[in-house]
Amino acid sequence: MSQAQNILILGAGGQVGTELRRSFANAGEVTAFGRETADLSRPEELRSLIRQLHPDVILNAAAYTAVDRAESEPELALTINGEAPRILAEEAASSNALLVHYSTDYVFDGSKRSPWEEADETNPLNVYGRTKLAGERAIQEVGGRYLIFRTSWVYGPHGRNFLLTMRRLGRERDQLKIVDDQFGAPTSSAAIADATRAAVERAGADWTTHSGVYHMTCGGETTWFGFAKEIFAEQEQQTESKSPQIIPIPSSEYPVPAMRPTNSVLSNQKLQSFFGIALPDWQRALVKTMMALKPEGGIPTGSRIR
Ligand SMILES: NC(=O)c1ccc[n+]([C@@H]2O[C@H](COP(=O)([O-])OP(=O)(O)OC[C@H]3O[C@@H](n4cnc5c(N)ncnc54)[C@H](OP(=O)(O)O)[C@@H]3O)[C@@H](O)[C@H]2O)c1
Repeated sequence: MSQAQNILILGAGGQVGTELRRSFANAGEVTAFGRETADLSRPEELRSLIRQLHPDVILNAAAYTAVDRAESEPELALTINGEAPRILAEEAASSNALLVHYSTDYVFDGSKRSPWEEADETNPLNVYGRTKLAGERAIQEVGGRYLIFRTSWVYGPHGRNFLLTMRRLGRERDQLKIVDDQFGAPTSSAAIADATRAAVERAGADWTTHSGVYHMTCGGETTWFGFAKEIFAEQEQQTESKSPQIIPIPSSEYPVPAMRPTNSVLSNQKLQSFFGIALPDWQRALVKTMMALKPEGGIPTGSRIR
């Protein structure tokens, strides 16, 4: 971003949205909207909002992210994850703005033994994954300038996520059973936001070669059990608090409405070679996030949500 930009953040109160506000705070004129002002379940209403603001960059961190609930609300999930991105893409294309959008490792069925690449065949196992894939396709059909970042296992200091759930359960229980047969890469919301800013800057004016789908996750891989083990080890290190006993279990012992892929580790090679960007390994990002976590909460953000 060579000159001051007009930047619109949607889903501004979510995990990634909150970190985008921090990361883009000094990148230009930032307007950050939550659901109250920009409701993606009413996609047509987004048009006038965008036309009023005339953003150079739209960062869409809003999504229907309740993976299990989506199984019983497929239409709402499709409106928010599939239809709204099409409207955003159309509005972006008509004013030559850049649309940055996030998608998910759950577009894959988990059957591959090595990390998934962008060009691999998608085959979502659940409603959430299907609606996110619909959003990707809609943006690609519209064309224009866009970046779709597929990420995975997002956590951070805000919202609902595995890290905060483990911290709470660790205080409440002596023993936790955690799924140990799904492989992925925990990715911090801060790392996603910082990588997004770097990508937007590095792409510069060269959008014809840069528009596309990119995987964007922290390095390495683990299971939910491995993630939990690392969380409690780090917590013990930081606070000398006692950890609960954690027991690895197969997914079959933890039934949930939505099926999850067995292997959803994504290859980040394309992000590295097109943008020279590599997110930190998941353990490093976790330590950084936990160091910054204060019980009384709150990280500084660069703009207010309207
Ligand atoms: N979380 C993950 O593990 C994960 C994994 C892979 C990919 N992703 C993708 O990464 C992106 C960011 O996710 P995240 O982790 O930051 O999710 P998040 O914390 O759940 O945030 C999603 C945001 O979207 C907002 N939202 C939901 N429905 C909306 C609506 N109808 N209109 C406007 N806003 C609405 C939510 O608002 P409320 O707070 O009011 O509900 C929330 O602020 C999403 O595209 C997601 O699909 C996430």
